[in-house]
Amino acid sequence: KKIILSGIQPTGVFTLGNYLGAVKNWQKMQEEYQCYYFIADLHSLTIQIDPVKRRQQTLQAFALLLACGIDPEKSLVFVQSHNKCHAEMGWIMDCVSQFGELSRMTQFKDKSSKHPENINAGLFTYPALMAGDILLYQADYVPVGADQTQHLEFTRDVAARFNHNYGEIFKLPEGYFPKAGARVMSLQDPTSKMSKSDENPKATISILDDEKTILKKFKSAVTDSEAKVCFREDKPGVSNLMTIYSAITGKTMEEIEAEFEGKGYGDFKAVVGQTVADELKPIREKYAELMNDRPYLEEKMREGAERATYIARKTLTKVKKRVGLLMEK
Ligand code: TYM
Repeated sequence: KKIILSGIQPTGVFTLGNYLGAVKNWQKMQEEYQCYYFIADLHSLTIQIDPVKRRQQTLQAFALLLACGIDPEKSLVFVQSHNKCHAEMGWIMDCVSQFGELSRMTQFKDKSSKHPENINAGLFTYPALMAGDILLYQADYVPVGADQTQHLEFTRDVAARFNHNYGEIFKLPEGYFPKAGARVMSLQDPTSKMSKSDENPKATISILDDEKTILKKFKSAVTDSEAKVCFREDKPGVSNLMTIYSAITGKTMEEIEAEFEGKGYGDFKAVVGQTVADELKPIREKYAELMNDRPYLEEKMREGAERATYIARKTLTKVKKRVGLLMEK
């Protein structure tokens, strides 16, 4: 079976963007592939969060993954820091990553200009830790949203360089992007991506929002003055709503255009809002149930960490030998 790997940071409740861009796909892939999914808590250390909150959010993120249909009996689900191989591999990857290529990462540039008060070294070497995550498990495909494309390219470059310097060891992983939903935009500013950290609550749908809130946010979503449902570059608001609708229903853009022919934005937004609300309702219910059973979550985390460590350790040992670290006897 081909190997799938992906991660998500515990920096807040997942957005509709995280869900449609990544997690919804993760759930579908479980039947066909060997899947490894983790909560990237080490990556989240690059952002300042209250430590108590970080701990809570990590547990919540784990529960959210299960609520989204990730089944710990089918897939390996774990918390990144619980498998110590990630931190160790990350350092080795740091030492094959070049300053120049890391400097070109657009996510680093974006994040450092948004938070000039905390441009930490971890933010800079973030892609090297991510490359380590992927290469430890010899992943074939990495299902992510479009914003991670450059990090995947970087991972392939680092893997190829390592193979060249120390002998073939890594498979070069490929990105796997959903047909619709790879880039879900803000409901208030459809030219920027929907993000967990957006200060305007109307801009973002959280996957735990209730029906009323979801309908309200869609009702106030920014569109344009043309009153015609069609997918066009100069209509980013409407196109974004169509993308969301398409990602959930599987309908093509042509089908959606036909469906809303002659109808106004009011009707269109109400249908999209209702579709999203119906999709998220079972997730919200399952999440509430899981958060009431902490011993179950802790047991699944423990099992996940143990299996993940077992698998990753094999690659890490080979890597350490290749670079010439003296092995402990
Ligand atoms: P993170 O936590 O920012 O986002 C998790 C996933 O959600 C996708 N995503 C979106 N997709 C569509 N539209 C959006 N508006 C949107 N916002 C976020 C992201 O592309 C991502 O797939 N660096 C990663 C975590 C990570 C990782 C890894 C991923 C760490 N190690 C190894 C894959 C493999 C991140 O910050 O994701």
